[in-house]
Amino acid sequence: MSQNISRRPRRLRTTPAMRAFVAETSLRPADLILPMFIADGITEPNPIVSMPGVVQHTMDSLLEAVAEAQEVGIKCIDLFGVPLDANKDAEGSQAWSADGVLNRAIKAVRERFGDDILVMADTCLDEFTSHGHCGVLATDAHGNTVVDNDQTVERYQKMAVSQAKAGAHIVSPSGMMDGQIDAIREALDEAGYQDVAIMAYSAKYASAFYGPFRDAVGSSLEGDRRTYQQDPANVRESLLEVELDIAEGADFVMVKPGLPYLDVLRAVAELSPVPVAAYQVSGEYAMIKAAAANGWLDGDACMMEALISLKRAGANQILTYFAVEAARILRAQY
Ligand code: PBG
Repeated sequence: MSQNISRRPRRLRTTPAMRAFVAETSLRPADLILPMFIADGITEPNPIVSMPGVVQHTMDSLLEAVAEAQEVGIKCIDLFGVPLDANKDAEGSQAWSADGVLNRAIKAVRERFGDDILVMADTCLDEFTSHGHCGVLATDAHGNTVVDNDQTVERYQKMAVSQAKAGAHIVSPSGMMDGQIDAIREALDEAGYQDVAIMAYSAKYASAFYGPFRDAVGSSLEGDRRTYQQDPANVRESLLEVELDIAEGADFVMVKPGLPYLDVLRAVAELSPVPVAAYQVSGEYAMIKAAAANGWLDGDACMMEALISLKRAGANQILTYFAVEAARILRAQY
């Protein structure tokens, strides 16, 4: 005798076809943005130990890897520069030099791929400063060393314009300075780059999950970024940051990290009139890779589950070091 159960939700889970039919969220290769590292002064790609499968690229290996990403349907890459230590200085001037490693890479990728793949560039000074902070340092009225907001924003303006000039389709200010979107928009427009878009790292937390990234870029940072990145305890603050960035002209807003901040992502997605990106950061990647390497988790399954969770929470685009691996699986499914 069967039970008298009025609703049977399992009916919609019976077969793969039924499950695909009722799926509320889906993932496409075009949703994924691949972050990539270009390093100066290396002749072979340099593996990043804490991010298995990710390397610091040479110019040649970068172009090859971009072609590979394009082949599996990725539409956007995000470039980070790793300059020689000898080229770092207190203000990070290689960041806006046309000869800086990041600007050379932007140019090389744009020249080779044209408009076939979107070139996004990280617009932040931390890889380029000798002290590793995202901005320039100053002494405040009490004699404390601080990251000076307005002097930093001036450097971001120069950096963004140099990236646009090198061929970036999208600049992505990740330094969490106040007023950075407004200032960058104005500088880009003034220089004639009205069509270059801004992906704003709007809700970026001071997160320990960035650990492996700091290895990836050979970060010089001592101390932390808590005077400019957000406190993990807060969500209201993210809504303010997002609102300001949208008012200042952000074309996309971003929440970062991803999985530990799904509530923030959901809240931002509910209010944002512009596309919302989520950054699955280096630590999120490393955790899955490490557990998979130990045989403790099914790496592919966890990768796909984490990515669909970001979509479900409201992300339109996802920055992920898994982009190519995930795109391969997605293509095999269709
Ligand atoms: C800073 C920047 C960071 C990341 C992206 N941009 C590091 C930081 O804020 O310390 C982290 C990305 C990751 O962990 O994958 N320009």
